[in-house]
Amino acid sequence: MNKLSVAFLVLSLSSVVSAGPTGHWLAKQTFPDGQTRETSLWLKADGNTLTGYMISPNQDAAPISNGKISGNEISFSVVRDNFGEQRKTDYSGTLTNDKLTLRLPGFGGRRVREMSFQQVSTEIPGPPPPPKPKISLPPAADVPSNGLAKTPPMGWNSWNKFARSVSDRVVRETADAIVKNGMKDAGYIYVNIDDAWQGTRDAQGNIRPNDKFPDMKALADYIHSKGLKIGIYSSPGPKTCANYEGSFQHEEQDAKTFAAWGIDYIKYDWCSASQVYDYHSMPAVYAKMGLALLHSGRPIVYSLCQYGVLKSETWGAKVGGNSWRTTGDIRDSWESMSHIGFDEQLDLAPYAGPGHWNDPDMLEIGNGGMTNTEYRTHMSLWSLLAAPLLAGNDLSKASPEIMDILLNKEVIAIDQDPLGKEATRVSKEGDLEVWARPLQGGAFAVGLFNRGPSTAKVTARWSDVGLHGSARVRDLWKHKDLGVSAEAFSSDVPSHGVTLLKLEPASK
Ligand code: GLA
Repeated sequence: MNKLSVAFLVLSLSSVVSAGPTGHWLAKQTFPDGQTRETSLWLKADGNTLTGYMISPNQDAAPISNGKISGNEISFSVVRDNFGEQRKTDYSGTLTNDKLTLRLPGFGGRRVREMSFQQVSTEIPGPPPPPKPKISLPPAADVPSNGLAKTPPMGWNSWNKFARSVSDRVVRETADAIVKNGMKDAGYIYVNIDDAWQGTRDAQGNIRPNDKFPDMKALADYIHSKGLKIGIYSSPGPKTCANYEGSFQHEEQDAKTFAAWGIDYIKYDWCSASQVYDYHSMPAVYAKMGLALLHSGRPIVYSLCQYGVLKSETWGAKVGGNSWRTTGDIRDSWESMSHIGFDEQLDLAPYAGPGHWNDPDMLEIGNGGMTNTEYRTHMSLWSLLAAPLLAGNDLSKASPEIMDILLNKEVIAIDQDPLGKEATRVSKEGDLEVWARPLQGGAFAVGLFNRGPSTAKVTARWSDVGLHGSARVRDLWKHKDLGVSAEAFSSDVPSHGVTLLKLEPASK
Protein backbone atom coordinates (compact mmCIF):
# COMPACT_ATOMS: atom_id res chain seq x y z
CA MET A 1 0.00 0.00 0.00
CA ASN A 2 1.54 3.33 -0.96
CA LYS A 3 1.47 6.47 1.18
CA LEU A 4 -1.38 8.00 -0.76
CA SER A 5 -3.73 5.07 -0.27
CA VAL A 6 -2.89 4.89 3.46
CA ALA A 7 -3.73 8.58 3.75
CA PHE A 8 -6.96 7.95 1.83
CA LEU A 9 -7.89 5.03 4.10
CA VAL A 10 -7.29 7.09 7.26
CA LEU A 11 -9.32 9.93 5.78
CA SER A 12 -12.22 7.68 4.81
CA LEU A 13 -12.19 5.96 8.20
CA SER A 14 -12.18 9.27 10.03
CA SER A 15 -15.14 10.41 7.93
CA VAL A 16 -17.27 7.36 8.76
CA VAL A 17 -16.43 6.74 12.41
CA SER A 18 -18.93 8.67 14.44
CA ALA A 19 -18.61 9.60 18.09
CA GLY A 20 -22.35 10.25 18.26
CA PRO A 21 -24.97 12.38 16.59
CA THR A 22 -22.91 15.58 16.48
CA GLY A 23 -22.15 16.69 12.94
CA HIS A 24 -23.58 17.11 9.49
CA TRP A 25 -25.89 14.36 8.20
CA LEU A 26 -27.06 14.13 4.62
CA ALA A 27 -29.96 12.19 3.14
CA LYS A 28 -29.81 11.85 -0.62
CA GLN A 29 -32.88 10.45 -2.30
CA THR A 30 -32.09 9.40 -5.83
CA PHE A 31 -35.06 8.50 -7.99
CA PRO A 32 -35.01 6.07 -10.93
CA ASP A 33 -35.18 9.06 -13.30
CA GLY A 34 -31.87 10.39 -11.93
CA GLN A 35 -33.34 13.29 -9.93
CA THR A 36 -32.00 13.77 -6.42
CA ARG A 37 -33.34 15.54 -3.35
CA GLU A 38 -31.06 16.37 -0.44
CA THR A 39 -32.03 16.89 3.18
CA SER A 40 -29.40 18.15 5.61
CA LEU A 41 -29.44 17.63 9.33
CA TRP A 42 -26.97 19.51 11.53
CA LEU A 43 -26.90 18.07 15.05
CA LYS A 44 -25.11 18.89 18.29
CA ALA A 45 -25.24 16.45 21.19
CA ASP A 46 -24.85 17.75 24.73
CA GLY A 47 -25.40 14.96 27.27
CA ASN A 48 -28.90 13.70 26.53
CA THR A 49 -29.90 16.86 24.72
CA LEU A 50 -29.86 17.43 21.00
CA THR A 51 -29.88 20.81 19.23
CA GLY A 52 -29.29 21.87 15.63
CA TYR A 53 -31.30 22.46 12.47
CA MET A 54 -32.68 20.77 9.39
CA ILE A 55 -32.65 21.96 5.78
CA SER A 56 -35.30 20.19 3.69
CA PRO A 57 -35.39 20.50 -0.12
CA ASN A 58 -36.54 23.95 -1.21
CA GLN A 59 -36.91 25.18 2.36
CA ASP A 60 -35.07 27.56 4.67
CA ALA A 61 -33.20 26.07 7.63
CA ALA A 62 -35.53 25.14 10.50
CA PRO A 63 -34.17 24.75 14.07
CA ILE A 64 -34.89 21.51 15.88
CA SER A 65 -36.54 21.60 19.29
CA ASN A 66 -37.15 19.11 22.08
CA GLY A 67 -34.14 17.07 20.90
CA LYS A 68 -33.36 14.01 23.05
CA ILE A 69 -30.81 11.19 22.96
CA SER A 70 -31.38 7.86 24.65
CA GLY A 71 -28.76 5.24 23.79
CA ASN A 72 -28.92 4.82 20.01
CA GLU A 73 -32.32 6.46 19.76
CA ILE A 74 -32.85 10.14 19.07
CA SER A 75 -36.01 12.22 18.80
CA PHE A 76 -36.73 15.86 18.01
CA SER A 77 -39.33 18.19 16.54
CA VAL A 78 -39.03 20.68 13.72
CA VAL A 79 -41.35 23.66 13.52
CA ARG A 80 -41.65 25.05 10.01
CA ASP A 81 -43.49 28.04 8.69
CA ASN A 82 -46.19 26.84 6.33
CA PHE A 83 -47.68 29.94 4.71
CA GLY A 84 -47.79 31.81 8.01
CA GLU A 85 -48.85 28.83 10.11
CA GLN A 86 -46.36 27.11 12.39
CA ARG A 87 -46.39 23.39 11.57
CA LYS A 88 -44.66 20.97 13.95
CA THR A 89 -43.28 17.64 12.75
CA ASP A 90 -42.01 15.01 15.22
CA TYR A 91 -39.13 12.81 14.15
CA SER A 92 -37.48 9.82 15.76
CA GLY A 93 -34.39 7.98 14.61
CA THR A 94 -31.87 5.24 15.23
CA LEU A 95 -28.14 5.83 15.09
CA THR A 96 -25.66 3.17 13.99
CA ASN A 97 -22.11 4.41 13.43
CA ASP A 98 -22.28 6.78 10.48
CA LYS A 99 -25.92 5.99 9.61
CA LEU A 100 -29.03 7.60 10.95
CA THR A 101 -32.43 6.20 10.06
CA LEU A 102 -35.06 8.84 10.59
CA ARG A 103 -38.75 8.00 10.79
CA LEU A 104 -41.16 10.57 9.40
CA PRO A 105 -44.75 10.63 10.53
CA GLY A 106 -47.47 9.93 7.94
CA PHE A 107 -49.62 12.71 6.54
CA GLY A 108 -53.21 12.43 5.31
CA GLY A 109 -53.37 8.66 5.22
CA ARG A 110 -49.78 8.22 4.05
CA ARG A 111 -47.77 5.60 5.96
CA VAL A 112 -44.82 6.45 8.16
CA ARG A 113 -41.74 6.82 5.97
CA GLU A 114 -38.06 6.38 6.67
CA MET A 115 -35.16 8.45 5.51
CA SER A 116 -31.57 7.28 5.63
CA PHE A 117 -28.86 9.81 6.54
CA GLN A 118 -25.12 9.44 6.17
CA GLN A 119 -22.72 11.38 8.37
CA VAL A 120 -20.60 13.64 6.17
CA SER A 121 -18.73 15.53 8.92
CA THR A 122 -18.47 15.67 12.69
CA GLU A 123 -18.25 19.46 12.65
CA ILE A 124 -20.22 21.15 15.46
CA PRO A 125 -23.01 23.21 13.89
CA GLY A 126 -23.26 26.94 14.41
CA PRO A 127 -26.55 28.83 14.33
CA PRO A 128 -28.88 27.98 11.39
CA PRO A 129 -28.25 30.05 8.25
CA PRO A 130 -30.75 32.93 8.03
CA PRO A 131 -33.71 32.64 5.64
CA LYS A 132 -32.97 33.78 2.10
CA PRO A 133 -34.37 37.24 1.27
CA LYS A 134 -37.70 37.07 -0.57
CA ILE A 135 -39.11 39.10 -3.46
CA SER A 136 -42.28 41.10 -2.79
CA LEU A 137 -44.27 41.95 -5.90
CA PRO A 138 -46.71 44.88 -6.04
CA PRO A 139 -50.37 43.87 -6.55
CA ALA A 140 -51.03 43.03 -10.21
CA ALA A 141 -53.79 44.38 -12.42
CA ASP A 142 -56.61 41.90 -13.09
CA VAL A 143 -55.85 39.52 -15.96
CA PRO A 144 -58.70 39.41 -18.51
CA SER A 145 -60.56 36.11 -18.78
CA ASN A 146 -59.34 33.71 -21.49
CA GLY A 147 -62.94 32.63 -22.12
CA LEU A 148 -62.11 28.93 -21.62
CA ALA A 149 -63.48 26.19 -19.33
CA LYS A 150 -67.12 27.27 -19.43
CA THR A 151 -67.76 23.94 -17.71
CA PRO A 152 -65.22 22.23 -15.40
CA PRO A 153 -62.29 20.74 -17.36
CA MET A 154 -62.43 16.97 -17.83
CA GLY A 155 -59.64 14.59 -18.71
CA TRP A 156 -56.77 12.73 -17.08
CA ASN A 157 -53.61 13.67 -15.17
CA SER A 158 -50.50 11.53 -14.75
CA TRP A 159 -49.53 12.28 -11.15
CA ASN A 160 -51.79 10.17 -8.91
CA LYS A 161 -50.82 6.92 -10.61
CA PHE A 162 -47.56 7.46 -12.49
CA ALA A 163 -45.84 10.28 -10.54
CA ARG A 164 -42.20 10.48 -11.72
CA SER A 165 -42.50 7.58 -14.14
CA VAL A 166 -44.75 9.47 -16.58
CA SER A 167 -43.40 9.20 -20.13
CA ASP A 168 -44.26 9.82 -23.77
CA ARG A 169 -45.38 6.18 -23.97
CA VAL A 170 -47.69 6.43 -20.93
CA VAL A 171 -49.28 9.59 -22.32
CA ARG A 172 -49.84 8.08 -25.78
CA GLU A 173 -51.26 4.87 -24.31
CA THR A 174 -53.58 6.90 -22.10
CA ALA A 175 -54.81 8.93 -25.07
CA ASP A 176 -55.44 5.70 -27.00
CA ALA A 177 -57.37 4.28 -24.03
CA ILE A 178 -59.46 7.46 -23.65
CA VAL A 179 -60.56 7.17 -27.27
CA LYS A 180 -61.21 3.43 -27.06
CA ASN A 181 -62.99 3.19 -23.73
CA GLY A 182 -65.59 5.87 -24.41
CA MET A 183 -64.10 8.56 -22.16
CA LYS A 184 -63.48 10.91 -25.06
CA ASP A 185 -67.14 10.71 -26.07
CA ALA A 186 -68.11 11.29 -22.43
CA GLY A 187 -66.11 14.56 -22.41
CA TYR A 188 -62.71 13.59 -20.95
CA ILE A 189 -60.64 15.66 -23.36
CA TYR A 190 -57.49 16.86 -21.56
CA VAL A 191 -54.54 14.48 -21.33
CA ASN A 192 -52.36 16.21 -18.76
CA ILE A 193 -48.70 15.58 -18.02
CA ASP A 194 -47.92 16.50 -14.42
CA ASP A 195 -44.48 16.93 -12.83
CA ALA A 196 -41.35 15.05 -14.04
CA TRP A 197 -41.35 15.82 -17.78
CA GLN A 198 -38.74 18.60 -17.56
CA GLY A 199 -35.11 18.45 -18.59
CA THR A 200 -32.64 21.34 -18.57
CA ARG A 201 -32.65 24.70 -20.36
CA ASP A 202 -30.62 25.34 -23.50
CA ALA A 203 -28.12 28.21 -23.86
CA GLN A 204 -30.98 30.60 -24.70
CA GLY A 205 -32.90 29.52 -21.62
CA ASN A 206 -35.50 27.46 -23.49
CA ILE A 207 -36.87 24.61 -21.41
CA ARG A 208 -36.38 21.14 -22.89
CA PRO A 209 -38.11 17.93 -21.90
CA ASN A 210 -36.12 15.10 -20.31
CA ASP A 211 -35.25 11.77 -21.95
CA LYS A 212 -38.69 10.30 -21.22
CA PHE A 213 -40.18 12.82 -23.68
CA PRO A 214 -38.15 12.75 -26.92
CA ASP A 215 -40.31 15.30 -28.77
CA MET A 216 -43.02 17.30 -27.03
CA LYS A 217 -44.38 18.84 -30.24
CA ALA A 218 -44.73 15.39 -31.82
CA LEU A 219 -46.52 14.16 -28.68
CA ALA A 220 -48.93 17.13 -28.76
CA ASP A 221 -49.56 16.46 -32.48
CA TYR A 222 -50.38 12.84 -31.65
CA ILE A 223 -52.82 13.81 -28.87
CA HIS A 224 -54.45 16.38 -31.17
CA SER A 225 -54.74 13.81 -33.98
CA LYS A 226 -56.96 11.79 -31.61
CA GLY A 227 -59.28 14.77 -31.13
CA LEU A 228 -57.94 15.31 -27.60
CA LYS A 229 -56.06 18.16 -25.92
CA ILE A 230 -52.77 18.10 -24.02
CA GLY A 231 -51.77 19.64 -20.70
CA ILE A 232 -48.43 20.31 -19.03
CA TYR A 233 -47.11 21.34 -15.62
CA SER A 234 -44.72 23.94 -14.22
CA SER A 235 -44.01 26.03 -11.14
CA PRO A 236 -43.44 29.74 -10.52
CA GLY A 237 -40.48 28.67 -8.34
CA PRO A 238 -36.98 27.70 -9.48
CA LYS A 239 -37.85 24.03 -8.89
CA THR A 240 -41.06 22.02 -9.06
CA CYS A 241 -42.30 19.93 -6.15
CA ALA A 242 -40.45 16.87 -7.51
CA ASN A 243 -37.31 19.02 -7.93
CA TYR A 244 -37.43 19.57 -11.71
CA GLU A 245 -36.83 22.85 -13.50
CA GLY A 246 -39.49 25.51 -12.73
CA SER A 247 -40.46 28.65 -14.67
CA PHE A 248 -38.93 31.24 -12.29
CA GLN A 249 -37.65 34.16 -14.41
CA HIS A 250 -38.66 32.32 -17.60
CA GLU A 251 -42.42 32.86 -17.41
CA GLU A 252 -43.03 34.51 -20.82
CA GLN A 253 -40.46 32.28 -22.51
CA ASP A 254 -42.04 29.09 -21.11
CA ALA A 255 -45.57 30.22 -22.01
CA LYS A 256 -44.35 30.76 -25.59
CA THR A 257 -42.60 27.38 -25.66
CA PHE A 258 -45.73 25.63 -24.39
CA ALA A 259 -47.83 27.41 -27.04
CA ALA A 260 -45.32 26.44 -29.75
CA TRP A 261 -45.51 22.79 -28.69
CA GLY A 262 -49.32 22.97 -28.92
CA ILE A 263 -50.12 22.79 -25.22
CA ASP A 264 -53.76 23.46 -24.27
CA TYR A 265 -53.69 23.37 -20.45
CA ILE A 266 -51.14 24.20 -17.76
CA LYS A 267 -51.10 23.32 -14.09
CA TYR A 268 -48.92 25.87 -12.30
CA ASP A 269 -47.78 24.54 -8.93
CA TRP A 270 -46.36 26.84 -6.20
CA CYS A 271 -43.78 24.31 -4.83
CA SER A 272 -40.43 26.07 -4.27
CA ALA A 273 -41.75 29.57 -5.02
CA SER A 274 -41.69 30.38 -1.29
CA GLN A 275 -37.90 30.19 -1.57
CA VAL A 276 -37.83 33.25 -3.84
CA TYR A 277 -41.11 35.12 -3.20
CA ASP A 278 -42.83 36.40 -0.10
CA TYR A 279 -45.88 34.13 -0.31
CA HIS A 280 -48.18 37.17 0.11
CA SER A 281 -47.14 38.03 -3.46
CA MET A 282 -48.82 34.83 -4.65
CA PRO A 283 -51.67 36.53 -6.57
CA ALA A 284 -49.18 38.75 -8.44
CA VAL A 285 -46.92 35.76 -9.13
CA TYR A 286 -49.86 33.85 -10.63
CA ALA A 287 -51.00 36.94 -12.57
CA LYS A 288 -47.58 37.02 -14.25
CA MET A 289 -48.09 33.58 -15.79
CA GLY A 290 -51.79 34.35 -16.42
CA LEU A 291 -50.76 37.30 -18.58
CA ALA A 292 -47.93 35.36 -20.24
CA LEU A 293 -50.39 32.63 -21.26
CA LEU A 294 -52.83 35.20 -22.58
CA HIS A 295 -50.05 36.65 -24.74
CA SER A 296 -48.73 33.24 -25.80
CA GLY A 297 -50.85 33.17 -28.95
CA ARG A 298 -52.69 29.98 -27.97
CA PRO A 299 -55.79 29.38 -25.83
CA ILE A 300 -54.42 27.62 -22.73
CA VAL A 301 -56.52 26.60 -19.72
CA TYR A 302 -54.81 27.91 -16.58
CA SER A 303 -55.00 25.69 -13.49
CA LEU A 304 -53.63 27.18 -10.26
CA CYS A 305 -52.14 24.78 -7.75
CA GLN A 306 -51.28 26.43 -4.44
CA TYR A 307 -53.20 24.27 -2.00
CA GLY A 308 -55.89 26.90 -1.31
CA VAL A 309 -53.42 29.24 0.43
CA LEU A 310 -54.49 32.90 0.89
CA LYS A 311 -58.10 31.95 0.06
CA SER A 312 -57.33 31.45 -3.61
CA GLU A 313 -61.05 31.28 -4.37
CA THR A 314 -61.19 35.05 -3.78
CA TRP A 315 -58.48 35.94 -6.35
CA GLY A 316 -57.97 32.89 -8.59
CA ALA A 317 -60.22 34.17 -11.39
CA LYS A 318 -58.71 37.70 -11.23
CA VAL A 319 -55.23 36.38 -12.07
CA GLY A 320 -56.60 34.60 -15.13
CA GLY A 321 -57.14 31.21 -13.45
CA ASN A 322 -59.72 28.75 -14.76
CA SER A 323 -59.43 26.74 -11.55
CA TRP A 324 -57.57 26.86 -8.27
CA ARG A 325 -56.80 24.10 -5.82
CA THR A 326 -58.68 24.48 -2.56
CA THR A 327 -56.71 21.98 -0.47
CA GLY A 328 -53.48 20.05 -0.03
CA ASP A 329 -52.85 16.88 -2.02
CA ILE A 330 -55.48 14.16 -2.18
CA ARG A 331 -54.49 10.56 -1.30
CA ASP A 332 -56.15 7.35 -2.38
CA SER A 333 -57.90 6.79 0.94
CA TRP A 334 -61.38 7.33 2.31
CA GLU A 335 -60.00 9.59 5.07
CA SER A 336 -58.23 11.90 2.64
CA MET A 337 -60.94 11.99 -0.04
CA SER A 338 -63.85 12.46 2.37
CA HIS A 339 -62.06 15.12 4.41
CA ILE A 340 -61.15 17.10 1.29
CA GLY A 341 -64.51 16.60 -0.40
CA PHE A 342 -66.87 17.22 2.51
CA ASP A 343 -65.05 19.26 5.15
CA GLU A 344 -62.79 21.47 3.09
CA GLN A 345 -65.27 22.63 0.43
CA LEU A 346 -67.78 24.26 2.75
CA ASP A 347 -68.47 27.93 1.92
CA LEU A 348 -66.65 27.82 -1.45
CA ALA A 349 -69.72 27.55 -3.72
CA PRO A 350 -70.18 31.29 -4.33
CA TYR A 351 -66.75 31.49 -6.02
CA ALA A 352 -67.34 28.86 -8.71
CA GLY A 353 -68.96 29.58 -12.05
CA PRO A 354 -68.48 29.21 -15.80
CA GLY A 355 -64.78 29.75 -16.57
CA HIS A 356 -63.54 29.60 -12.98
CA TRP A 357 -63.81 26.60 -10.67
CA ASN A 358 -62.83 25.41 -7.21
CA ASP A 359 -60.50 22.42 -7.55
CA PRO A 360 -60.56 19.85 -4.71
CA ASP A 361 -57.76 17.94 -6.54
CA MET A 362 -57.71 15.11 -9.04
CA LEU A 363 -59.64 11.86 -8.93
CA GLU A 364 -58.26 8.73 -7.26
CA ILE A 365 -60.99 6.49 -8.72
CA GLY A 366 -59.48 3.15 -9.72
CA ASN A 367 -56.16 3.49 -7.89
CA GLY A 368 -57.07 0.72 -5.46
CA GLY A 369 -57.12 2.40 -2.04
CA MET A 370 -60.90 2.74 -1.75
CA THR A 371 -63.90 0.51 -2.35
CA ASN A 372 -66.11 1.03 -5.40
CA THR A 373 -68.80 2.38 -3.04
CA GLU A 374 -66.29 4.99 -1.87
CA TYR A 375 -65.22 5.77 -5.44
CA ARG A 376 -68.91 6.33 -6.35
CA THR A 377 -69.07 8.80 -3.46
CA HIS A 378 -65.88 10.46 -4.80
CA MET A 379 -67.38 10.81 -8.31
CA SER A 380 -70.76 12.01 -6.99
CA LEU A 381 -69.29 14.56 -4.62
CA TRP A 382 -66.84 15.98 -7.19
CA SER A 383 -69.71 16.31 -9.68
CA LEU A 384 -71.90 18.09 -7.15
CA LEU A 385 -68.94 20.38 -6.40
CA ALA A 386 -68.59 21.29 -10.11
CA ALA A 387 -64.98 20.16 -9.77
CA PRO A 388 -62.58 19.46 -12.63
CA LEU A 389 -62.91 15.73 -13.38
CA LEU A 390 -59.36 14.58 -14.02
CA ALA A 391 -59.07 10.81 -13.79
CA GLY A 392 -55.85 9.78 -12.05
CA ASN A 393 -55.65 6.03 -12.68
CA ASP A 394 -54.03 3.75 -15.26
CA LEU A 395 -56.68 3.84 -17.96
CA SER A 396 -55.09 1.08 -20.00
CA LYS A 397 -55.85 -1.32 -17.13
CA ALA A 398 -59.09 0.01 -15.60
CA SER A 399 -61.71 -2.63 -14.67
CA PRO A 400 -65.26 -2.48 -16.08
CA GLU A 401 -66.58 -1.48 -12.61
CA ILE A 402 -64.19 1.49 -12.49
CA MET A 403 -65.07 2.49 -16.05
CA ASP A 404 -68.78 2.40 -15.09
CA ILE A 405 -68.02 4.93 -12.36
CA LEU A 406 -65.97 7.25 -14.57
CA LEU A 407 -68.40 6.92 -17.47
CA ASN A 408 -71.73 7.48 -15.73
CA LYS A 409 -73.08 10.08 -18.13
CA GLU A 410 -75.91 11.14 -15.84
CA VAL A 411 -73.39 11.97 -13.11
CA ILE A 412 -71.02 13.69 -15.57
CA ALA A 413 -73.98 15.82 -16.70
CA ILE A 414 -74.32 17.10 -13.13
CA ASP A 415 -70.66 18.14 -13.09
CA GLN A 416 -70.97 19.74 -16.52
CA ASP A 417 -74.29 21.49 -15.94
CA PRO A 418 -74.05 24.78 -17.86
CA LEU A 419 -75.46 26.86 -14.98
CA GLY A 420 -72.18 26.15 -13.20
CA LYS A 421 -73.56 26.40 -9.68
CA GLU A 422 -71.60 24.42 -7.11
CA ALA A 423 -73.43 22.37 -4.44
CA THR A 424 -73.69 23.39 -0.83
CA ARG A 425 -74.30 21.19 2.18
CA VAL A 426 -77.98 21.63 2.96
CA SER A 427 -78.22 19.35 5.98
CA LYS A 428 -76.00 17.41 8.34
CA GLU A 429 -77.02 15.01 11.09
CA GLY A 430 -73.91 13.40 12.51
CA ASP A 431 -72.36 11.29 9.73
CA LEU A 432 -75.27 11.87 7.35
CA GLU A 433 -74.98 14.76 4.94
CA VAL A 434 -77.14 16.08 2.11
CA TRP A 435 -75.54 18.23 -0.59
CA ALA A 436 -77.53 19.92 -3.36
CA ARG A 437 -76.94 22.09 -6.40
CA PRO A 438 -79.41 23.83 -8.68
CA LEU A 439 -79.26 22.83 -12.35
CA GLN A 440 -80.19 24.68 -15.48
CA GLY A 441 -83.95 24.60 -16.11
CA GLY A 442 -85.05 24.44 -12.45
CA ALA A 443 -83.95 20.88 -11.55
CA PHE A 444 -81.67 19.98 -8.63
CA ALA A 445 -78.93 17.41 -8.08
CA VAL A 446 -78.94 16.02 -4.57
CA GLY A 447 -76.46 13.70 -2.88
CA LEU A 448 -77.53 11.72 0.20
CA PHE A 449 -74.24 10.72 1.84
CA ASN A 450 -73.46 8.38 4.71
CA ARG A 451 -69.99 8.94 6.18
CA GLY A 452 -70.70 6.54 9.06
CA PRO A 453 -69.61 2.93 9.70
CA SER A 454 -72.93 1.17 8.89
CA THR A 455 -75.94 1.51 6.60
CA ALA A 456 -78.21 4.39 7.59
CA LYS A 457 -81.36 6.07 6.37
CA VAL A 458 -80.64 9.50 4.91
CA THR A 459 -83.45 11.96 4.18
CA ALA A 460 -83.38 14.92 1.79
CA ARG A 461 -86.10 17.47 2.49
CA TRP A 462 -87.20 19.63 -0.43
CA SER A 463 -87.34 22.64 1.92
CA ASP A 464 -83.60 22.17 2.66
CA VAL A 465 -82.79 21.72 -1.02
CA GLY A 466 -84.68 24.89 -1.98
CA LEU A 467 -87.35 23.15 -4.05
CA HIS A 468 -91.01 24.15 -3.72
CA GLY A 469 -93.79 21.65 -4.41
CA SER A 470 -93.44 18.00 -5.36
CA ALA A 471 -90.65 16.59 -7.50
CA ARG A 472 -89.96 13.69 -9.85
CA VAL A 473 -87.06 11.69 -8.42
CA ARG A 474 -84.42 9.88 -10.49
CA ASP A 475 -81.58 7.77 -9.08
CA LEU A 476 -78.44 8.54 -11.13
CA TRP A 477 -76.47 5.42 -10.15
CA LYS A 478 -79.37 3.00 -10.58
CA HIS A 479 -80.52 4.89 -13.71
CA LYS A 480 -84.08 4.59 -12.47
CA ASP A 481 -87.06 6.91 -12.11
CA LEU A 482 -88.41 6.60 -8.57
CA GLY A 483 -91.75 8.42 -8.94
CA VAL A 484 -92.97 11.72 -7.51
CA SER A 485 -92.34 12.76 -3.91
CA ALA A 486 -94.24 15.57 -2.21
CA GLU A 487 -91.67 16.99 0.17
CA ALA A 488 -88.79 14.62 0.91
CA PHE A 489 -87.00 11.45 -0.11
CA SER A 490 -85.34 8.87 2.13
CA SER A 491 -82.85 6.21 1.17
CA ASP A 492 -80.92 3.48 2.99
CA VAL A 493 -77.34 4.44 2.17
CA PRO A 494 -74.47 2.00 2.81
CA SER A 495 -71.48 3.00 4.91
CA HIS A 496 -69.34 5.54 2.96
CA GLY A 497 -71.90 5.43 0.15
CA VAL A 498 -74.23 7.80 -1.64
CA THR A 499 -77.64 7.96 -3.25
CA LEU A 500 -77.40 10.55 -5.99
CA LEU A 501 -80.68 12.02 -7.21
CA LYS A 502 -81.91 14.38 -9.84
CA LEU A 503 -85.07 16.20 -8.83
CA GLU A 504 -87.37 17.76 -11.44
CA PRO A 505 -90.17 20.01 -10.17
CA ALA A 506 -93.45 18.10 -10.79
CA SER A 507 -95.89 20.91 -10.01
CA LYS A 508 -95.85 24.64 -9.38
C1 GLA B 1 -47.76 18.93 -5.68
C2 GLA B 1 -49.16 18.98 -6.28
C3 GLA B 1 -49.53 17.60 -6.80
C4 GLA B 1 -48.51 17.16 -7.84
C5 GLA B 1 -47.11 17.19 -7.25
C6 GLA B 1 -46.04 16.96 -8.30
O1 GLA B 1 -47.71 18.13 -4.54
O2 GLA B 1 -50.10 19.43 -5.34
O3 GLA B 1 -50.83 17.62 -7.37
O4 GLA B 1 -48.59 18.02 -8.96
O5 GLA B 1 -46.83 18.45 -6.64
O6 GLA B 1 -44.75 17.08 -7.81
